[in-house]
Amino acid sequence: MLNFDDDIAPAPQPRLMPATPETLRAQAAGGILSREPVHDLDADRQALENGFRRVRVEDKRVINGESDVNQLVPFKYKWAWDKYLAGCANHWMPQEVNMQRDIETWKNPNGLTDDERLIVKRNLGFFVTADSLAANNIVLGTYRHITAPECRQYLLRQAFEEAIHTHAYQYIVESLGLDEAEIFNAYHEVKSIRDKDEFLIPFIDVLTNPLFRTGTPEADQALLKSLIVFACIMEGLFFYVGFVQILAMGRQNKMTGASEQYQYILRDESMHCNFGIDLINTIKLENPHLWTAEFREEIRALMKKGVDLEYAYAEDTMPRGVLGLNATMFKEYLRFIANRRCQQIGVDAVFDKADNPFPWMAEMIDLKKEKNFFETRVTEYQTGGALNWE
Ligand SMILES: [Fe+2]
Ligand SMILES: [Fe+2]
Repeated sequence: MLNFDDDIAPAPQPRLMPATPETLRAQAAGGILSREPVHDLDADRQALENGFRRVRVEDKRVINGESDVNQLVPFKYKWAWDKYLAGCANHWMPQEVNMQRDIETWKNPNGLTDDERLIVKRNLGFFVTADSLAANNIVLGTYRHITAPECRQYLLRQAFEEAIHTHAYQYIVESLGLDEAEIFNAYHEVKSIRDKDEFLIPFIDVLTNPLFRTGTPEADQALLKSLIVFACIMEGLFFYVGFVQILAMGRQNKMTGASEQYQYILRDESMHCNFGIDLINTIKLENPHLWTAEFREEIRALMKKGVDLEYAYAEDTMPRGVLGLNATMFKEYLRFIANRRCQQIGVDAVFDKADNPFPWMAEMIDLKKEKNFFETRVTEYQTGGALNWE
């Protein structure tokens, strides 16, 4: 879905087809309806007599569902299960990446310019706490409000991946011998980082509030808004200046270990973002009353605000042009991504036509390439082998 040139595939339409005697007869006869859920009517009756109801596909809902969240099957949200499997196939650990060259580069007074060092420090200053925020948002917030077990299964995987990302950033900080207090406190002490996090906090707090319950249009919109902010603005926008900067360094053969870590993280984040967008679109399909014109306008305003904050961060991390990049290029890039996110969730674009100044990024996070990972390089990726810079 992050292949920016492709059309966006619509999220799967939930199938709400109850079993009827006709469909059951057709199933028994192996007819074309045999893919509909099969219900054992006697077992269903017996279950009811025993005071419970067997889980039926048609009873499942992403939010406000009442079917048993402990039963993963029968599957309804296959897209979530598929992403869970893909995430597991992509498993990697930070220690598998060799950081020796980065350590030598960092220690060498001529290894990097001051501007390049600032980029590395500002990057880590944002990311060392951002992925903990993401993990806490999932575990303490989002998870309990999602009632589809396939989606919960993915969220469990995602939460672990966020832990791996925090580990990766910490591992880079430790490898380079950076001042840990400076890097881990950057989200308090560096304005451009603090501003991004302060923008996010209210959307995390609403879901982690123990008194928050879904089930009213207002509460369900609050949840949906938080999911959009998290997937489309945090994971889908706030990570991208940092990713471009470090990956650009790697393309110039600098800090190649850190770049490799970031490339694994980027691949995970691209999946998180895709999952979040599928989740959002499915909630919309199941709850169309939430998707009002007013709500969509609110989302567009948030998207614009997100671009402003990320652009301020871009300027702060690179006051001068460096690595062939400059802040103006990021302005175009962020507008391009924001429009793309709007399109993916079905709201009007927030900017006039914006182009992608970093086409090589699209290649790197392209879903087709991701598919290649699974089809042709499964073994390497399952063992966390080195990525190629093709
Ligand atoms: Fe992450
Ligand atoms: Fe993430």
